[in-house]
Amino acid sequence: MTEVRRPEPLDSKRHDRSAFDSGAPELDDWLRRYATQNRRGNTAATWVVTDRNSIVVGYVSLSMTGIDRSTPPALVAQHAPDPVPALLIGRLAVDRSVGLGIGTALVAHVLATAVSLNDQAACRAVVVTALDDAARSWWERLGFHPFAPGDPSAFDLYLLTTEIATTLQSLS
Ligand SMILES: CC(C)(COP(=O)(O)OP(=O)(O)OC[C@H]1O[C@@H](n2cnc3c(N)ncnc32)[C@H](O)[C@@H]1OP(=O)(O)O)[C@@H](O)C(=O)NCCC(=O)NCCS
Repeated sequence: MTEVRRPEPLDSKRHDRSAFDSGAPELDDWLRRYATQNRRGNTAATWVVTDRNSIVVGYVSLSMTGIDRSTPPALVAQHAPDPVPALLIGRLAVDRSVGLGIGTALVAHVLATAVSLNDQAACRAVVVTALDDAARSWWERLGFHPFAPGDPSAFDLYLLTTEIATTLQSLS
C-alpha cells in the first residue's frame, strides 16, 4: 500500500510530477506545465499529495471565484452580492496507480480551506465543473449539487459552505 503525506502546496523543487498519470491527459499536462506558472501569477494555488519519495500521487488547484447571481439556485443567490463569493476547484486528479481515497482526502482538504476562507473573507460555496459523467456522480456522492438539475449536459456543481460540515461528517 502506498504511504502518502498530507496535502501541501506544490513545490517545483521538491515534488516530482514527471510521471503523473490520472488517465486525463489534460489534467496531467496542466500539473506539469502550468501549475507553477499559475501559482506565480496568483491565479491558482496547487496542493499536492505525494508518496514518501515526494512523487505526486494527487493534486487539486484552487482559485477564488464569483458566481453570476442571475443564474444559480436561490440558495446560492439569496441575499448575496453579485457575483456571489465562492471557492473554485479548478482541477483535481489522482494517479491511476493509487486507490486509497486520495481524491476524497483532497476534497476534505478543500472543504476545510473553504471554511477557513469563509471565516476570514466570506465564501458562500465551493464550485467545480465536473470533467465528465463519472466525475459528476463522484462529486454528487460528496454532496455537491448541479446548478442545473435535470440537464444531463450541465457539469457545473456547487456545495454551500453551510453544507460542508455534513459532508465532512459523512467522510469520517
Ligand atoms: C475522480 C478522481 C479524482 C477520484 O479520485 P480517487 O482517489 O480515485 O477517489 P476516492 O478513492 O477518494 O473515491 C473513490 C470512491 O468513489 C467511488 N466512485 C468512484 N467513481 C464513482 C462514480 N462515478 N460515481 C460514484 N462513486 C464513485 C468509489 O466506489 C469509491 O468508493 P468507496 O470509497 O466507497 O470505495 C480520480 O478518479 C481521477 O483523477 N480521475 C480522473 C480525473 C477526474 O475525473 N477528475 C475530476 C475532475 S472534475
